[in-house]
Formats: sequence, C-alpha cells, structure tokens
Amino acid sequence: MALARVVPAPGRSTELIVMTQQLLSILIGVVSIGGYLLVCGFAASFFPDAPKPPPAPSDRDVEAENLGRRWQYAAPDLGLALKRTDALGNPWTEVPALERVEFINADCRRLIFRLPPGITRDDFGKKAEALAGAFGMSDAEVERDTGRADLVAVLLIRPNSALTRDLPSELNPVLRMVPGASPLAPVSLGLLSSGDPLKLSLFEASWLVGGSPGSGKSVFVQQLLATAALTSNCELWLLDPKEVEFAFWEARATRLVRSPELADHIACLEELVAVMDARYAELRAAGKRKASIGPEMPLILLVIDELAELTASGDKKGNPVAGELIRRLVAKGRAAGICVVCATQKPSADVVPTSLRDLFGYRIAFRCGTNAQSDTILGNGQAQLGGDASRISTSTRGLGMVLGDGERMARRFKSFYLSDAELVAIAERATPDNLDARRAVVPIPCTAAHAVLPLFKTPADCPECAANRRHFFAGEGVACP
Ligand SMILES: Nc1ncnc2c1ncn2[C@@H]1O[C@H](COP(=O)(O)OP(=O)(O)OP(=O)(O)O)[C@@H](O)[C@H]1O
Ligand SMILES: [Mg+2]
Repeated sequence: MALARVVPAPGRSTELIVMTQQLLSILIGVVSIGGYLLVCGFAASFFPDAPKPPPAPSDRDVEAENLGRRWQYAAPDLGLALKRTDALGNPWTEVPALERVEFINADCRRLIFRLPPGITRDDFGKKAEALAGAFGMSDAEVERDTGRADLVAVLLIRPNSALTRDLPSELNPVLRMVPGASPLAPVSLGLLSSGDPLKLSLFEASWLVGGSPGSGKSVFVQQLLATAALTSNCELWLLDPKEVEFAFWEARATRLVRSPELADHIACLEELVAVMDARYAELRAAGKRKASIGPEMPLILLVIDELAELTASGDKKGNPVAGELIRRLVAKGRAAGICVVCATQKPSADVVPTSLRDLFGYRIAFRCGTNAQSDTILGNGQAQLGGDASRISTSTRGLGMVLGDGERMARRFKSFYLSDAELVAIAERATPDNLDARRAVVPIPCTAAHAVLPLFKTPADCPECAANRRHFFAGEGVACP
C-alpha cells in the first residue's frame, strides 16, 4: 500500500507571516536609507567645504566650450596667432585668449578676445569672412568699440538669421509715431546684427546711401522720410529725377521736383543754397554759430533719390553745376539746419568723388557689385577691414552696412520696410494740422503697461526701455509697443 505524503495546504496564518516579513524588510530598508542620509547631512555640517558634485553643464556652457576649442585650432590657420620663443628657446604659439562668449540672441554670439601685443583689431577685421567660416557661421562682424584697446569683439551671425528675413512691421516704431515729434530725436531705421535698433539723428549729419539696383535704397530713404514727415519743424525738399519715388509726400513736401530735366533740379538746388546763405547771414547777425531748430528756423531735409542723374548726366566728368551746389549744401548746410540725403545706384568715383563722399557723416552701403563700389560709399579700405557690402547676398534685400560719423568700422543692419499702404497712411497723418496740434497736446504716456509712471522723454528715462534691449522707443512722446 503506497503511503500518500500529506502536504499541508498553505493556510491563512502562513500568508500573514510572509506578508509581515515582506513589510518588515521594506521598513528596515527605508529606515536604513533615511539614517544614512541623516548621518551624511550631519557629517556635511561638520565639513561644509567637502567637494560637491559639479552641476551639469548648461547648453550655453557647452556651446562656449565648443567655440573656444574651435578657436584654438582656427587661430593659427587664420594668421591670428603668434609664434613665440620662451626664455629657454622653446617655440610656442600665442593665441588671443577668448575671454568670454555673450549670447546676444538666437542668431548672434559676441566673442570677446584679448589681443596679445602684435595682433590688432584691424587684423581681426581683415579676417572677418574667414572667422565666420572657421566658426561655421554665415557672417562675422568685428566691433571696435569695446571700450578697451586690448580687447576686440567679434559678432558671429548664424546662417538664416532674422536679419536675412523681412523684419515684422510691429517692430517699426514709425508706425506708432505720434505726429509732431521733434526732428532732433533719433530716427529708427532698422536692426543691427546684435538685435539693437539702428538709430541715427536726422540733424547730426548728411547721408550717402548707395547700392546696386534693387538693393533697398529707396525703401531705406522712405523710412527716413516717413519719420521726418511726422516731425514738426522739418521741411522736406525732394528731388526725384525718376519721377515716381516721392509721390506719397506731395502734400507734405515744401518742394518736390519730379522732373527728368536737370535745369529744374538745379533751380531748386540754387534756391536752397540761397536759403542757406540767408540763414548764415542771420546767424552772423545774431552772433550764433549754429541754427537752433524751431518754428523760425525749421530743419530742412534735402533728399535726392538718384544722385547720378544730377551729377553725372550728359557729361562723363559729371555735371559741374549740380555737383558743386550739392557739395556746398553737404559741406556747409548742417550748421544752417540743412541736411542732405543722397541715394545712388552708381557708386562710382564720377558720381561720388572722394571729396564729396568724405563730407557725408552717415554712409550706408546696400549690396554692391564689387568691393571697390562698397569702398566708394563707405570709405577707402573699409572692405578690407570687414565692412564689405559686396558680400551681401543678392537674395537679401534691405541688408546694408552703416558707417556713422567717427566710427572706424561699418556695422551690418537690416532696414525696416514700409508698404505703399503704410506710406499712404503715414502721409495722411503728417498733415500740418496734426503736426501743429501736437504742440498743444498733453504728451502721451510711454505705454499702457507702465502708464502709471510719468511721460518718458527718452528711452533712458523709461526703466523698461532702458532695461530691455528689444523694447523700442522711437522718439519724444512716442508710445512703446
Ligand atoms: N528692408 C527691406 N525689407 C523687405 N524688402 C525690401 C527691403 N528693402 C528692399 N526690399 C524689397 O526690394 C525691392 C527693391 O527695393 P528698392 O526699391 O529700395 O531698391 P533700390 O535700391 O532703390 O533700387 P533702384 O536702384 O532700382 O532704385 C522693394 O520693392 C522691396 O520689395
Ligand atoms: Mg530706388
């Protein structure tokens, strides 16, 4: 007879025992981890300087490190490093130290290098294009204005940056400008590579604007005119040999010559020279050296859309009469409150001789055919120093180089664009009634957001504008976005 082995079926009490054992082991685990952490914390309070694990590097740290590594390899190849020998006769290479990387915006980085003796900012400027290539960027701009002679700043611009696309019109302050602002306030014309607005003063200097056909000169000049049209105490004298450009400003202009006849333009130039001479006589009589812009002596903005039509027409040596009148106005006009804006699609020496070019305080070169043409506008040697408008691609319109008075190096910028409908709307707002009414109107507050604060006359007065580089302020009494 086979004996059956009786295995007791697991009863309820056995299950309970197993569960209790499991719970106990979990509890012991938790208590021992907590105890361990407690002991560690207690020990750390006795050793506060104990090394802590380094924080994970941020994306910016990684990018800065990569740029630094690239620079170490690229500098000797670009000729921006020096071969030295130490006291023991061992050769070594001195590379300008990459001091820091500033993250300007999504498209732009500013690299600050310390220059060793023997390497200059001009050496960097001459290598701007190669620098861009070495860092895998589309463009590089060398800034001189670092405030220290031993530092140079290089702006690196990514391919397809915002400046290669059209700027959104919400960024254009002229569309929100209140008629009747002062003509002495700076005019916002576009954006620099750094994302900062390009602001220049109408009153400070005369303007030379050059570039190939279709490069964006007229669009730029219209932005300038739109702002000037909305200011009070500002007369517009417009010479339009092409007869189509300035139609928007017919009602606002003091003089508008739309004619292919050179004689008509010369007559207008002669009239303006007479005004200038009369103003000088007035200033002499009053013992003043410079006009104070106001209702008695408004700013006069003379805009010539195609200089070549006036100075080089008919005669290869240029038209001496028109050329001389323009030269006198550019040379002497400013003190008498007259500023000249000349645009030309022929940046050649017969249209803009060096003697005339050098009188313009602001020089703006849009895309040019050759670096010699770019230099004709910006100044000799600028292309070699990195300010070369012939490097601007044909597909990018409104991208230009600007050289301000006293600046050594041109900066890249993208100009604002005003559609025909926007120009019409601005011209309709720029009526004499609106411009005069402004004087009686209580100035508007800066924005609804900080309307509780008093009126800010300049961006520096407005904490929000001053703090936020992308917060625009177009001029006196103009609302911020
Ligand atoms: N800043 C800009 N943003 C967007 N589009 C622009 C800009 N500048 C120019 N354009 C485009 O390029 C076109 C030509 O520009 P514009 O008329 O200013 O050229 P131009 O240099 O004056 O040419 P031309 O020498 O033939 O008079 C404009 O109609 C516009 O479509
Ligand atoms: Mg044009």
